[in-house]
Amino acid sequence: MEPVAATMLPRALPILLLLAAAVTVSAERAPTLVFILAGQSNMGGRGGATVGDRWDGVVPPECAPSPRTLRLSPSLRWEEAREPLHAGVDIGNVVGVGPGMPFAHALLRSPACPRGAVVGLVPCAQGGTPIVNWTRGSEMYERMVTRARVAVAGTGRIAALLWFQGEADAMRREDAVAYAGRMEAFVRDVRRDLAMPNLLVIQVGIATAQNQGKWLDLVRKQQRAVRMPNLKYVDAMGLPLANDITHLTTQAQVRLGKMLADAYIATL
Ligand SMILES: *[C@@H]1O[C@H](CO)[C@@H](O)[C@H](O)[C@H]1NC(C)=O
Repeated sequence: MEPVAATMLPRALPILLLLAAAVTVSAERAPTLVFILAGQSNMGGRGGATVGDRWDGVVPPECAPSPRTLRLSPSLRWEEAREPLHAGVDIGNVVGVGPGMPFAHALLRSPACPRGAVVGLVPCAQGGTPIVNWTRGSEMYERMVTRARVAVAGTGRIAALLWFQGEADAMRREDAVAYAGRMEAFVRDVRRDLAMPNLLVIQVGIATAQNQGKWLDLVRKQQRAVRMPNLKYVDAMGLPLANDITHLTTQAQVRLGKMLADAYIATL
């Protein structure tokens, strides 16, 4: 055995060192503040991804990667976050820039941000999903709760759920009128399943209806009617839209990210 071990060691050493380095890096890179991002396409991110069949690849400085911004990958590992944040999560769609990266950027730049904070983004959005696709027990809901639980298996805690959804509920009147009740049930269920009765939820007021649905105003009214403790509202109405008049542009997503960060910071 001894001669084998002796000859093995020099070859194995670099690998051992690499492994040790990887373990150290991942321990250092556990997030302290975890944010769940859920909803449909405007949360999934379509900035620069509404023309043709690919993302334009434009990453503004506010969306650039940083060692202090991680994302939970589709395979449930922490990695340095980069655009498109929802790659591999918002399945079957051309994904681009969403609000997550500029949100993290604005938060980390804020003097109110806890010192040494590492932001962990947990993308969970899926394009085209009405809120009934997010009821407890549904595929989207369970995927989100599973990812949220994995995300806080270490030392981090969930700081907020960022929710941008409702465009698909603006296509039929019966969905639009049911929106507030469904949203309240969703928030109640998430808080119970994560055992976080006071979980902060920041809801984005929708700016567009899917397929130019007729009930945009009604969904927006319902969104504002949701009254629950620790539920904040940020309005996307008025932000620049792409030519598809459904999706926020990259610059609009940068602005939305800042608005979401301001809403979160106001709770600190
Ligand atoms: C949304 O719900 C419909 C109807 O139950 C279902 O067919 C579809 O697969 C769901 N989509 C997702 C992404 O969960």
